[in-house]
Amino acid sequence: MTESVLMNRLARLAARPSGTCKPSDWTFCDEPLREPAEGEFVVKVSHISLDPAMRGWMNEGKSYIRPVAIGELMRAGGAGKVIASKHPGFQVGDEVAGTFGVQQYAVSDGKGVRKVDTRFAPLSTYLGALGMPGMTAYFGLLDIGKPKPGETVVVSGAAGAVGSIVGQIAKIKGCRAVGIAGGAEKCAYLTQKLGFDAAIDYKGEDVKAALKAHCPDGIHVYFDNVGGDILDAALSRLAMHARIVICGAISQYNNTTPVKGPANYLSLLVNRASMTGMVVFDYAERYAEGGREMAQWIAQGKLVAKEDVVQGGIDAFPDTLMKLFKGENFGKLVLAL
Ligand SMILES: NC(=O)c1ccc[n+]([C@@H]2O[C@H](COP(=O)([O-])OP(=O)(O)OC[C@H]3O[C@@H](n4cnc5c(N)ncnc54)[C@H](OP(=O)(O)O)[C@@H]3O)[C@@H](O)[C@H]2O)c1
Repeated sequence: MTESVLMNRLARLAARPSGTCKPSDWTFCDEPLREPAEGEFVVKVSHISLDPAMRGWMNEGKSYIRPVAIGELMRAGGAGKVIASKHPGFQVGDEVAGTFGVQQYAVSDGKGVRKVDTRFAPLSTYLGALGMPGMTAYFGLLDIGKPKPGETVVVSGAAGAVGSIVGQIAKIKGCRAVGIAGGAEKCAYLTQKLGFDAAIDYKGEDVKAALKAHCPDGIHVYFDNVGGDILDAALSRLAMHARIVICGAISQYNNTTPVKGPANYLSLLVNRASMTGMVVFDYAERYAEGGREMAQWIAQGKLVAKEDVVQGGIDAFPDTLMKLFKGENFGKLVLAL
């Protein structure tokens, strides 16, 4: 790789948080980077993806993916450049995205790593619209929500990585798109820049009343990113045969009390509606299909990929992650090293 050993700064999980996470939940260390073995390569990580799911990965217990162990490198998506390679499929200089962890350098065997093309879009976009959040929006809305032209699609967390893409795809598919987000600035962005038909500021408006005003025919598809009271409000406004996509419940991730479930669930019965959970990894074999169509929409100017790129070192990871839970990010949150 190089004559001298590279030192790698990384974050290891130190504690399982109760409630909101804090910087002491990780330890930060400098460790010598090992040489790649035959079939491996080294990535200099330049961008780390911050995802609400990280909070769940810190918890013990059964989920769709095993928890990060205490003492283990903190799991994270990321992107960067190959700087050394003993792998026939990856050359020095290749730009790549994968699950590289919260660290400066990653040694990889290539599993789950894909090459990306920065002539088309910056690396940060491959962690957002052309990465995991984009695939979540695409497959969650189209495969589970199954929106039809003329229907009303409501999405919560609408100014975020997943939600902003959901609303824009809904518009591309000829639907009415209504977003729910925190604050007037985010709501104005949704209607003025992203083409949403209406936006509801859940911090300043009565969501139930606003849904009634903006969804005169009811909600045909509700794409839920936040759970809690907003899910309940959406349930109260369903159209007949509505589909609810359970993508996430960020309002509940830092609870120290049990998750608040929907009280209005009998609305599913009355409206012959369905509520379906989705995990993006189930669509891994179809990412190329989703990526191609999303890239085309970006190139045609039909889809805006907004990223919130924070500059900082590995030690900036905890404070940057917390922005997601305070609503301080605007678009896909990325830490640029
Ligand atoms: N199922 C899957 O496979 C999958 C994959 C990716 C993501 N997800 C889920 O999708 C959701 C969105 O993820 P993302 O990466 O796109 O994050 P994001 O929306 O870019 O960022 C999180 C946003 O959540 C909102 N938020 C935070 N606390 C809230 C609360 N108490 N009530 C309502 N809104 C709150 C904030 O926006 P405001 O300013 O609007 O409050 C914040 O900006 C998360 O629930 C995540 O877990 C699921």
